[in-house]
Amino acid sequence: MNYRLSYLLAFALCFAAAFVSYASDAVSPFMTNVYGRDYMLLNGKWNVIVDLYDQGEKMKVFENRTPASNEEFYEYSFDGGLRLNVPGDWNSQVPELKYYEGTVWYARHFSAGPQTGERQFLYFGAVSYRCKVYLNGEMIKEHEGGFTPFEVEVTGKLSDGDNFLVVQVNNRRTEDAIPALAFDWWNYGGITRDVMLVTTPEQYVRDYFIRLAEKDSKSVAVSLSMALPQETDVRIDIPELKISETVRTDARGRAELVMKTPKLRLWHPDSPVLYDVTLTCGQESVSDRIGFRYLDTDGTDILVNGEPVFMRSISFHEEIPQRKGRAFSQADAQMLLSEAAALGVNMVRLAHYPQNEYIVRLAEEMGIVLWEEIPIWQGIDFEDEGTMAKAQGMLREMIHRDRNRCAVCFWGVANETKPSEARNAFLMSLLDTGRAMDTTRLYVAAFDLVYFNEETRHFEMDDPFTENLDVVAVNKYMGWYHPWPVPPTEAVWDVVPDKPLIISEFGGEALYGQHGDRNVASSWSEEYQARLYEDNIEMFRHIPNLAGVSPWILFDFRSPYRFHPTNQEDWNRKGLVSDQGYRKAAWYIMHDYYMKMK
Ligand code: GCU
Repeated sequence: MNYRLSYLLAFALCFAAAFVSYASDAVSPFMTNVYGRDYMLLNGKWNVIVDLYDQGEKMKVFENRTPASNEEFYEYSFDGGLRLNVPGDWNSQVPELKYYEGTVWYARHFSAGPQTGERQFLYFGAVSYRCKVYLNGEMIKEHEGGFTPFEVEVTGKLSDGDNFLVVQVNNRRTEDAIPALAFDWWNYGGITRDVMLVTTPEQYVRDYFIRLAEKDSKSVAVSLSMALPQETDVRIDIPELKISETVRTDARGRAELVMKTPKLRLWHPDSPVLYDVTLTCGQESVSDRIGFRYLDTDGTDILVNGEPVFMRSISFHEEIPQRKGRAFSQADAQMLLSEAAALGVNMVRLAHYPQNEYIVRLAEEMGIVLWEEIPIWQGIDFEDEGTMAKAQGMLREMIHRDRNRCAVCFWGVANETKPSEARNAFLMSLLDTGRAMDTTRLYVAAFDLVYFNEETRHFEMDDPFTENLDVVAVNKYMGWYHPWPVPPTEAVWDVVPDKPLIISEFGGEALYGQHGDRNVASSWSEEYQARLYEDNIEMFRHIPNLAGVSPWILFDFRSPYRFHPTNQEDWNRKGLVSDQGYRKAAWYIMHDYYMKMK
């Protein structure tokens, strides 16, 4: 068989597999686009019990008992004690909980009841880090992973009127967790994102993936699956494109279709076009705002809609430094992304975990490309099968939640892992899982393995695993963790020369308002940080396959192992912007570099 035929056959098999995989996606872990559904927010003040010694389960506090006779008493009550805001981490709400790692029981009443012909679900945007959910005294769901949603059906479990919801939350770090025992950000605990009671009809569109058809910028592909395995008519409306098509699902409740969209305008960072899309089945409809674009690489270029785009990026943690707490709201998303946009970026690397949907959805409105990753961050035990299963679950949940979000262009599977057979097998299985769910995005990982080769006098990296990635990223702290072996003007890079390379982290620390010698790192001065940025930008000019840069990091952020008593005080000071929102001198260096590129 000549190579052309085999190539075409391979492509056809991939194409078919891609469609089959979208449709046959394992039972979706939660409904797509919860914000487009009929929901009641369960946010607000919840009553809590801080359970440092994990006694609450044995005491069955989730039963919320009160004395029924003169002889009875209970050594707990949710009423009249501490209350915490939901969503929100507990660390920033109560001074005594700043460093707390352990169990906190959350509880609240809510009024609901069985609805004939309807189904009800409890949906949690994220709980950090593991939890058990109890409804009216019965344990109904467990989840592990602090950065992705989960839901549990409560149809038939709701009392008519008052219901009592208890969530046991635990954020203790463990060796087999993801992230594991030590990581350079604050270990926030709590119900850190929105909580909802969602109501649907018995039959509804549970999952959909709407995107540009493969390599055809004038057709839209739709994969959808219903809650019940029944043939069902679903109407798809895209009013602006004058599209209204009805598709009948198969007996499994699944359907695939491609719709011609001759007038479609593509989403691009410079023109973030989004369309209102509504899927209607019977009385239920779910609406979304979808952007259509396609991604590719060509040699060392990253292409958006066939055009090379240099990624002018920045990273930020899901944290509001002024509040010393996790970000969770629309207003928080606005603050973070507007400060990123002010720098002149067209991309944000959401470090180091999936961040809340407000950030993702606002980024696509603003035309900001996103790199989303799961927190495979140093210190992961790649030999542990349980850890592998958790990583798979987190990746699936991240892709399932955001695969309709056009701003997300990169799925990141790891940050700073060391080469080993176990690591390669672990990451390869993540790539296989990701590509089975979504072939419309580029897969990336960040490495910290670049070294200076004294013989060739080049910066090099030896990690064959990079062959499996669409884009390779490198964290390299020249001038901070690594002194310059040669002047920046002579820094020649020979790192994966045939692929697009993103510098996914570089930078150094400075305490805002502290001034000192631009040649002395330990001055922790704005002058030193600014000079470091000037030197790195000079080095970037000598990286032939550079496709993007992402300074570490937009804001100073909290980290329990940044010990210096005056320069750090539990803050990592690599921010271009201080924890109070003031821009350091280096911000202006980076801003100038980006503005000249626009
Ligand atoms: C690492 C890591 C970051 C960390 C940074 C630092 O590269 O990816 O999460 O904060 O370096 O040391 O500041």
